[in-house]
Amino acid sequence: MISSGILQAGGNITVDGTALWADILETARIGGTPKGGIRRLTLTEEDRQVRAWFAAACTSLGCTVTHDSMGNQFARRPGRDAGLPPITMGSHLDTQPTGGKFDGIVGVLGGLAVLRALHASGHETRHPIELINWTNEEGSRFAPAMLASGVFAGVFTEQEALDKTDRDGIRFGDALAAIGYRGAPPCGQHPVAAYFELHIEQGPILEAEEKTIGIVTGVQGMRWYEVTLTGRDSHAGTTPMPMRADALLAAARIIEAVSTVALAHGPDAVGTVGLLENRPNSRNVVPGEVFFTIDLRHPDDAVVMAMETDLRGRIEQIVTDAGIALAMERVWDSPAVHFDPACIASVRTATESFGYPARDIVSGAGHDAAYMARVAPTTMIFVPCAGGLSHNEAESAEPGDVAAGANVLLRAVLDADARLNP
Ligand code: GLV
Ligand code: MN
Ligand code: MN
Repeated sequence: MISSGILQAGGNITVDGTALWADILETARIGGTPKGGIRRLTLTEEDRQVRAWFAAACTSLGCTVTHDSMGNQFARRPGRDAGLPPITMGSHLDTQPTGGKFDGIVGVLGGLAVLRALHASGHETRHPIELINWTNEEGSRFAPAMLASGVFAGVFTEQEALDKTDRDGIRFGDALAAIGYRGAPPCGQHPVAAYFELHIEQGPILEAEEKTIGIVTGVQGMRWYEVTLTGRDSHAGTTPMPMRADALLAAARIIEAVSTVALAHGPDAVGTVGLLENRPNSRNVVPGEVFFTIDLRHPDDAVVMAMETDLRGRIEQIVTDAGIALAMERVWDSPAVHFDPACIASVRTATESFGYPARDIVSGAGHDAAYMARVAPTTMIFVPCAGGLSHNEAESAEPGDVAAGANVLLRAVLDADARLNP
């Protein structure tokens, strides 16, 4: 049943799914890869190009587009009451090195579809409506993920974010200035009435259960670590096996331990080593130094903590046995998040108003919504992706599902517009 809030407030408006799909395909050319994915790392030339596209598209719909000191872009459509804080939508346009066409992009372009629908209908909301393109959600080039929404929410200071470096030693602040997106408005000094983020699920559940919409109730806890193992470079032909200090061999044993720990805390725990640098990386040198990352996740923070304790114990044993020096730092701790019940209710009502098959779901991936939940009533909407595959160039979603998600986003925003600040 459609809520009275939505009925009062433009409940007959729907998004143009064809235009939304065309936007996805058009922007996919910016950083498009031969395998059909996107390589659009944050704060690169490709990121600059897609930001310019985003600003032009929003401006053509009568929005005012600004960016803050972390490069977050805000497209604002005025409301009837300019004194009210905006109801916001958003996600990210940066991608993984071998990313797909949908992760983050569906949320930004779905929000654009909402703005287009409001513009086409001439519907006037009470609150301003804003669409946000967050800087560096992926955390692939500059760790951690959700860096700029984290500064927005006060999780990180701006200075610590600006001083982050990529694996080539380039400072985040310098890369931001180089693409022309270090804005004057200080990041975070921007009141928000509510935040809604549309995203692909990035997992297999919705597709397997033939659901169109995931009503997201929260985000699981996640921790990232950086590990450097130091052994001794030595000759591969002349160093007897018992006399080696092989950092890569120790790393291999730790990688196995990460998997063992995740399985031991199953079925919901996951653990990944996704980045590894072996030095000197020469075929006839026993590796003397290895740098790698660890990603641990579970919906319950207590289990994440138990995984960390278990893993640290195993790592200590491995390096002691191997005669390897260990430096291990926890570089990110994003606790489990529970979204706002009233915003979840807006999404549920909107979903029911269309009759879309739906289920409640907890996000396994990190999202800017996880940090926005600290400063504003927040929730998310998921749509299925093929085989649950994400962070992969073959990532795929159905046009009808993406349009359905944007329709739910539209009605949830209108419901919040009627409900908030009465
Ligand atoms: C973000 O994409 C994450 O979940 O790592
Ligand atoms: Mn994403
Ligand atoms: Mn991602």
